[in-house]
Amino acid sequence: KGCKLVGCGSAVPKLQVSNDDLAKIVETSDEWISVRTGIRNRRILSGKDSLTSLAVEAAKKALQMAEVDPDAVDLVLLCTSTPDDLFGSAPQIPKALGCKGNPLAYDITAACSGFVLGLVSAACYIRGGGFNNVLVIGADAMSRYVDWMDRGSCILFGDAAGAVLIQACESEEDGLFGFDLHSDGDGQRNLNAAIKENETDYSLGSNGAVLGFPPRPASYSCVQMNGKEVFRFAVRAVPQSIESALEKAGLTGSSIDWLLLHQANQRIIDAVATRLKFPSERVISNLENYGNTSAASIPLALDEAVRSGKVQSGHTIAAAGFGAGLTWASAIIRW
Ligand code: ACO
Repeated sequence: KGCKLVGCGSAVPKLQVSNDDLAKIVETSDEWISVRTGIRNRRILSGKDSLTSLAVEAAKKALQMAEVDPDAVDLVLLCTSTPDDLFGSAPQIPKALGCKGNPLAYDITAACSGFVLGLVSAACYIRGGGFNNVLVIGADAMSRYVDWMDRGSCILFGDAAGAVLIQACESEEDGLFGFDLHSDGDGQRNLNAAIKENETDYSLGSNGAVLGFPPRPASYSCVQMNGKEVFRFAVRAVPQSIESALEKAGLTGSSIDWLLLHQANQRIIDAVATRLKFPSERVISNLENYGNTSAASIPLALDEAVRSGKVQSGHTIAAAGFGAGLTWASAIIRW
């Protein structure tokens, strides 16, 4: 059995924050940010918008493009590291879409690699598990965990959601040719938003009472990042991973129409393309307008490229996500 991408959609919050806006809260400038990253604007969740409402909007558009009824969806994978509910936000999506039959929905937590891992997971469910229509949604609100006083990281991130519908098909129509997936827990020190140390060092008082108990509710620290190390990791690991996915697919770079990387930094995108000897006119980039939207960045850029007519039916795309964990994941797909 094969699986193919049949629809995509995206959604971004209304509030736009420019580099000049950021220069009012930290010591930075539009020139510094745009030269070092390629980013000029980002969207930030505010008011009644939630991560789930963005994800639902993106999913609705993907279903509309595919002309598939919400009732036909049998699995929803929400790739997010910034959920509305720590226990999982995904079940809210089929509820909001009005899917009948209580389809399975759960969260996948893998930061900026989440969407590619969701794609590969969807393919496994379809090929082995009898699923037919799987919604894969990448959605993140990094603004929730950014330290807005840290100019080294706050300038990078934005909030968004993007979705694709993956459908079962005959094997000759298969749209996922090869993938390559990795993690490196050692690198976590260079990029994380870890739980804050909680005081769980209880002791017994003289009257038999447990001192220091009960614990305070847990909370997470803001994004901690060593930008230079993350940059080095991405530029080294991503080209290798794409080459490995191409090899598994039995393809070479020359048969790829588009390079679609996680939109973290234009200099990372350019460096990876150069290492792969990939011409810049076939590299998809939209981070100028949205910044790094974590798990949303690949489906958001794909959706824009499809709707603008850049990516057309039958085109082959080398996609790669990379980031916190550390994790990195590449997939060769056909639109
Ligand atoms: N404005 C002005 N100056 C700044 C800013 C800013 N926003 N940020 C840092 N600087 C200063 C620093 O203080 C430093 O000053 P100094 O030389 O006086 O000490 C100088 O600029 C250089 O700082 P670096 O951190 O060395 O700058 P670098 O060229 O490495 O660029 C950047 C920083 C843009 C963060 C880059 O390292 C990068 O993009 N790395 C990848 C990060 C990334 O993609 N992270 C997300 C991964 S995805 C995920 O999973 C969440």
